[in-house]
Amino acid sequence: MTAFLDDKDRIFTNIYGLHDWGLEGAMKRGHWDGTKGIIEKGRDWIIDEMKASGLRGRGGAGFPTGLKWSFMPKESDGRPSYLVINADESEPGTCKDREIMRHDPHTLIEGCLIAGFAMNAHTCYIYIRGEYIRERERLQAAIDQAYEAKLIGKNNKNGWDYDIYVHHGAGAYICGEETALLESLEGKKGQPRLKPPFPANVGLYGCPTTVNNVESIAVAPTILRRGGAWFAGFGRPNNTGTKLFCVSGHVNQPATFEEAMSIPFKELIDKHCGGIRGGWDNLLAVIPGGSSVPCVPAEEIINTPMDFDALRELKSGLGTAAVIVMDKSTDIIRAIARISYFYKHESCGQCTPCREGTGWMWRVLERMAKGEAHKREIDMLLDVTYQVEGHTICALGDAAAWPVQGLIRHFRQEIEERIDSYSYNAKPGETLIAAE
Ligand SMILES: Cc1cc2nc3c(=O)[nH]c(=O)nc-3n(C[C@H](O)[C@H](O)[C@H](O)COP(=O)(O)O)c2cc1C
Ligand code: SF4
Repeated sequence: MTAFLDDKDRIFTNIYGLHDWGLEGAMKRGHWDGTKGIIEKGRDWIIDEMKASGLRGRGGAGFPTGLKWSFMPKESDGRPSYLVINADESEPGTCKDREIMRHDPHTLIEGCLIAGFAMNAHTCYIYIRGEYIRERERLQAAIDQAYEAKLIGKNNKNGWDYDIYVHHGAGAYICGEETALLESLEGKKGQPRLKPPFPANVGLYGCPTTVNNVESIAVAPTILRRGGAWFAGFGRPNNTGTKLFCVSGHVNQPATFEEAMSIPFKELIDKHCGGIRGGWDNLLAVIPGGSSVPCVPAEEIINTPMDFDALRELKSGLGTAAVIVMDKSTDIIRAIARISYFYKHESCGQCTPCREGTGWMWRVLERMAKGEAHKREIDMLLDVTYQVEGHTICALGDAAAWPVQGLIRHFRQEIEERIDSYSYNAKPGETLIAAE
């Protein structure tokens, strides 16, 4: 297994926008090379190769991409099939798909065509985050180039009629959830649907649909050119490939970069981000996969491989690989309270545990951040997280519960000390607010 990624093995060779984003530049970098030949190899070959690559969805849940494609009907029952690209990128800390769309958009467009062919779809919608205005313009310009060059569209050179439409979202986090995204695309309020039925059976406009993340689709053409086995050669079994990581917070140089999966956390930060601000002894905790995954304290994460399974063993997750680093200057209780506010604000309100629970958790955490709470409320708060987790229509409920669970699991002592210090410093006559 390869430990570090060589430049020759990078899929995204223009994520910093140093070269030409347009068709000519993309072709020089090897994109749109032999696309017709890949399509001629047929659907089964493409899906088998994707399965062999071990690629797991890059949108957060890590579902195997080849397997997902295989769920789509091989023959049409009269309904069209659709490919929908999730470019909503709203998970706090995540800023990777935008680099693909604004600097290397042809990787995505070529991927849309090949994935669409593999799933018998002639139409693709790209649902892009409302705030990504420049990214949308760039992506649309690249799509126009692909039409112009007859790489997509009717009677194109690649032999599979294909249309790509870009749909601009209005800026709600929940529209990144795949069924809420489909509702929004249909012009309705972006609220998640109950599953089953799953989108592969009843998706966009009631037709078979696959929703994939931008990165999952953008890596597909290179995988198919170089072979599933090549991609599977990076990382560890079940955690293969190259991955875009976005590191923010208290590192010397925050950055988005492509690296081999399973690289240990310390190497990832030292190699790409110039180490932790104030040195490694100053590291407090890390949120390794976007705001919805539980934080991991410094000593547990330092030597951990950055991949799905290793982080799951630490009761956290790789999520979108948005790594949020917190040094010892961080007030971790306040940080998690702020994250709780985000989920309260973004809850669509359909399910009672999420609608009520997110607000309840946020209010208690706000008090805990000041120490203005009773110690027995810590277990009460934990109990509420378990009542929300797994009891809602979509995973936003889980996403709201997990950061709070991580805080209590690893930083209970800090919460207790904050409460002690508040009571100690309370002025005569001042009373604690009773638990809500
Ligand atoms: C609340 C919520 C927000 C989500 N936001 C995004 C998002 O912005 N981008 C994304 O690709 N997936 C997002 N997802 C995951 C999608 O539902 C879906 O799993 C993903 O697009 C599938 O693509 P993949 O298999 O290529 O990973 C979100 C899920 C939830 C529950
Ligand atoms: S879990 Fe929350 S965001 Fe998801 S459907 Fe229920 S109320 Fe809406």
